Amino acid sequence: MARERSANFDDNDFYQSADAFFSQRKGTALTYDDVSLATNYSEILPKEASLKTTLSERISLNIPIISSDMDTVTEYGMAIAMASSGGMGIIHYNMPYKEQVSQVTRVKYHINGLLPNPITVKPDIYIGDVIKLIEEKGYKFRTFPVTEENGTLAGLLGSRVVKARYSHIKVADAMDPVSKVLTLSETVVKPNPIDVADKFFSEHLGINKLLVVDDSNRLKGLVSISDIERIMSESQSVLKPARDSDFRLLVGAAISTVWKEDGTLDRDAIVEHVTNLCNERVDAIAVSAAHGHTKSIGDVVSLLRSEFKDLTILAGNVTSGSGVEYLAERGADAIKVGQGPGSICTTRVVAGVGIPQLSALYNASKGAAKKGVRIIADGGITKSGDIVKAMTLADGVMLGGLLAGSREAPGEIVEINNKLYKQYRGMGTLSAMKKGSAARYGHQKTDTTRKMTAEGIEGLKEVQGSVANILAEMVGGLQAGMGYNGAKDLTELKEKSRFVRISPAGMKESAPHDVIEVSKRS
Ligand code: XMP
Repeated sequence: MARERSANFDDNDFYQSADAFFSQRKGTALTYDDVSLATNYSEILPKEASLKTTLSERISLNIPIISSDMDTVTEYGMAIAMASSGGMGIIHYNMPYKEQVSQVTRVKYHINGLLPNPITVKPDIYIGDVIKLIEEKGYKFRTFPVTEENGTLAGLLGSRVVKARYSHIKVADAMDPVSKVLTLSETVVKPNPIDVADKFFSEHLGINKLLVVDDSNRLKGLVSISDIERIMSESQSVLKPARDSDFRLLVGAAISTVWKEDGTLDRDAIVEHVTNLCNERVDAIAVSAAHGHTKSIGDVVSLLRSEFKDLTILAGNVTSGSGVEYLAERGADAIKVGQGPGSICTTRVVAGVGIPQLSALYNASKGAAKKGVRIIADGGITKSGDIVKAMTLADGVMLGGLLAGSREAPGEIVEINNKLYKQYRGMGTLSAMKKGSAARYGHQKTDTTRKMTAEGIEGLKEVQGSVANILAEMVGGLQAGMGYNGAKDLTELKEKSRFVRISPAGMKESAPHDVIEVSKRS
């Protein structure tokens, strides 16, 4: 009899797919630590598991990790570090428009393949004028192509002559004239700029810049040897950068709703700002609010979709399938999921609203499947195992607290009892809302007649080292989880994952216990 029972036993009845598991728990909401994943037969070595994901038809990432659009998490330094490791940063909006645009520019100009619009100088100005330009604009380079008014290449001004002692000399007299400058035609370079430039620099000893011209000798681009060397060395590294078609790092920027005095949406201001961001080649705009299933967020998404057909739009936050569908219908490509799971959030305490994250993701994933959009698990991730669980349902994760102590996060370092910390605050704290994020929580920055209620706290994170190291640890954990699941990529992780509910005793068993820890796990 016992043998008969065993013969009929199928462990898939016990370890359940997401659909079976969550539909048995209607009305109950669970989060990461409430569940564990069962192992599957595997032929996958963790290091071979592919972490590629897409946020839209136009954006693909090499790791599914995005940094939060928070003023203590993502500015240009974080965005460069995120994209350099294969993810993406979303630059926050608690800063003037102009500043946000220039932060996007800094990321896009960090390393280039073929730079299509290099900064040029004219032959009739003086070296002193060039030095002034470098100081005013904060350029980190001192070599400039020299062009005539009509864009024709006149020569190359090398860094060796851009010195104060030559201030009185005209550029035309100091430059290498065009007859002595090596150029390549755009028809040769454009199809494969990196390989062509790599070969060019190997063949031309001592040349550091490749100038690209058209048939009429008009300047069409520039490639620097230092960028090519970095790009070539990246091909050896484990975490490959996330780049656009011109080899520039990917970056996103967040915006909020902007209101006119009469209470209507300031469509012109939004379109003008996003146009400026797009001119700098921003890759995604995140329309970010605590409650994204609202008319105002829907209106902003519709406006952006009608004005910017090819723009990748992220929007949120929601915790339901209907919220995902609503934003997808208005044109969002990827929807952020999470209300109150964040490490600095108090939305659930203050408003009594919000859904534990894994159930929110399950519901959201149903809406996403209906509409063919992606979802991003935003907030509440404290360890790599949470990322594995999130990625059984989502297309990416957004991290705030895990990155806020890194070297690249903005914010000052403070020392307390010989330990170093960085400030990490919610965008719904009073101090952050006064700086600009009030609209995210449905308030106006200038609202003085009514007290704004905080939905976040201010805290400190211990200083932790570089983003690359933190991401390497997270990626290692995610790949280990995929190995246990027998998943060669993130699609298979979704298909193969099987859930069990765990008890508090099971949770205790899941972490180190009954020993005195003498070394850190990392
Ligand atoms: P983690 O857990 O990664 O969460 O630190 C980051 C996410 O938290 C959200 N966020 C807030 N939520 N009040 C909230 O309820 C806040 O003040 C607040 N600030 C940020 C946001 O989605 C972020 O990505």
